[in-house]
Amino acid sequence: MKYKNILVDQKDRWAIITINRPNKLNALNRETIQELHDAFKALDNNNKIRAIIITGSGEKAFVAGADIAEFADFSVKEGGKLAKKGQKLLFDFVENLSTPVIAAVNGFALGGGLELAMACHFRVASDNAKMGLPEVSLGVIPGYGGTQRLPQLVGKGHAMEMIMTAGMIDAQKAQKLGLVNYIVPQEELLPLCEKLAAKISNNSPVAIAHAIKAVNAGFKNNSNGFAIEIEAFGTCFGTADFKEGTTAFLEKRKADFPGK
Ligand code: COA
Repeated sequence: MKYKNILVDQKDRWAIITINRPNKLNALNRETIQELHDAFKALDNNNKIRAIIITGSGEKAFVAGADIAEFADFSVKEGGKLAKKGQKLLFDFVENLSTPVIAAVNGFALGGGLELAMACHFRVASDNAKMGLPEVSLGVIPGYGGTQRLPQLVGKGHAMEMIMTAGMIDAQKAQKLGLVNYIVPQEELLPLCEKLAAKISNNSPVAIAHAIKAVNAGFKNNSNGFAIEIEAFGTCFGTADFKEGTTAFLEKRKADFPGK
């Protein structure tokens, strides 16, 4: 598939998506959101792809937010529609994807950029990364899930402070708050993410998909995470991946999971 705003580098068992609008610090306009949706969907449907890494092009930014130029003259109705459509197409879509998604935060992750990183399953940052939700400085609030996912990740008090001050935190602070799992020099960011992707790729993609669903269920209103876990646990016993995983263990060999 041909994209205008993103690059997709498909390796053997994982893929790297790069948001490629460096002159706009990779700000998310509607076209980029649609392209990201299409790329994630295609990779998720590809049985060979067992993990996805998302990053930004250039050395300065992961994503500096939603494209402010695009929504500056929006009405109340258009504003609501923008958030609803974006959440559905990209942010909720990534969070609930069956294939693990790692955010490689290589610089500024602001507003929609931090919201995208938070929708990923976990985050790794380069030591120059800066994160924040500056929306209230523009007279608006985070609209791509930031008011919900930030408190889930760092706790309500820290989230309130970050949202109210509109300030940025550095990679060290982000790691201390649990927002990122690792900090590395920029040149080591993708190699580390690929190492993590390779490790993930050795495991059962079907079991991982069930684990993502069960973990996410605990953070959703009106869903019982424990009940979802029990159901998903049972379902695993009927899968070819389970047969292969247990057989390989008993035969003292490495499992070769048939997958999705
Ligand atoms: N939307 C649209 N364009 C953006 C953008 C965004 N969120 N963030 C950066 N850009 C554009 C700038 O307008 C500029 O474009 P231009 O060269 O055509 O004027 C280009 O990207 C480079 O940004 P610039 O501001 O010159 O870089 P800087 O190093 O001086 O500052 C930031 C970097 C990240 C501090 C600054 O760009 C910024 O504050 N961006 C907006 C962050 C934000 O509020 N995001 C939340 C949106 S809801």
